[in-house]
Amino acid sequence: MDIEKYTKKIYDKFGQEYQKTREEKRPERAFNEFLEMPCMFKAVGNIKEKKLLDVGCGAGVHIKKYLKKGALCSGIDLSETMISFAREKNKNVHFNVGTITKLPYKNNSFGIVTASLMIDYVKNLNKAFSEVNRVLKKGGLFYYSDMNPATESRDIYENKEIKIDAFGYVEYKKTGKIISLGRSWLERIDHFEMVPGMKVKFYKRMFRTHLNALIKSGFELVDFIDCRPVKEFKKYNSKEYEMLTKFPMFSIYVARKK
Ligand SMILES: C[S@@+](CC[C@H](N)C(=O)[O-])C[C@H]1O[C@@H](n2cnc3c(N)ncnc32)[C@H](O)[C@@H]1O
Repeated sequence: MDIEKYTKKIYDKFGQEYQKTREEKRPERAFNEFLEMPCMFKAVGNIKEKKLLDVGCGAGVHIKKYLKKGALCSGIDLSETMISFAREKNKNVHFNVGTITKLPYKNNSFGIVTASLMIDYVKNLNKAFSEVNRVLKKGGLFYYSDMNPATESRDIYENKEIKIDAFGYVEYKKTGKIISLGRSWLERIDHFEMVPGMKVKFYKRMFRTHLNALIKSGFELVDFIDCRPVKEFKKYNSKEYEMLTKFPMFSIYVARKK
């Protein structure tokens, strides 16, 4: 099955359980709220009265904050389940169900486009970035978060003694000790069990692939921000806090429409 159809199916089916784990801030799922979100909110800075589109908006948790910052928001997501949560949370915002590769908006509509942890589900980066470029005004900014390219290089492996997940965390089964290893250069689709039964598939890419797709689609890269977890995260998962302060799991690309 094509990855877009697969992703839609999986978020439609497990969206409620996924969002529940986010809201409950379960230790194994707390890194959006304490890692990506604070990093993205700081990156976008002052967005008062800016027209902002959040792509892959999920349950609209970012939009809630962007509204508080005074932005005029719209949101779009592949999954009807996720959009129904987004609508519940943000009554006066216009949401669409749809894909980044075919945005239902006119040319030059937005000053800002954001995309939090969704680009890795997209097969054709050039198509996606060209669409974002089309709906942005000249000079408009595109902020998207993704796995850090070094973290992307990790491989899945398991034997009797150890288990390595898609992000390179090596767990020694006997002691529970966790370390991290890596491998670069191989771009591929990998998978990860987001919540029990919810196996997401995602692309692992090199930094250069992102950069070339951005340039080809009419952007210039103006910043690349490695996300550090906020201190509060320590109380939810002190082990992961330690690891995430040593190397970045997520980074934010900031690109300007030329
Ligand atoms: C990991 S969730 C992140 C949701 C939200 N941005 C957040 O950080 O809370 C990824 C979201 O991207 C959406 N998505 C995946 N591929 C997409 C596409 N091609 N176009 C639009 N949304 C997509 C999924 O349906 C899902 O809601």
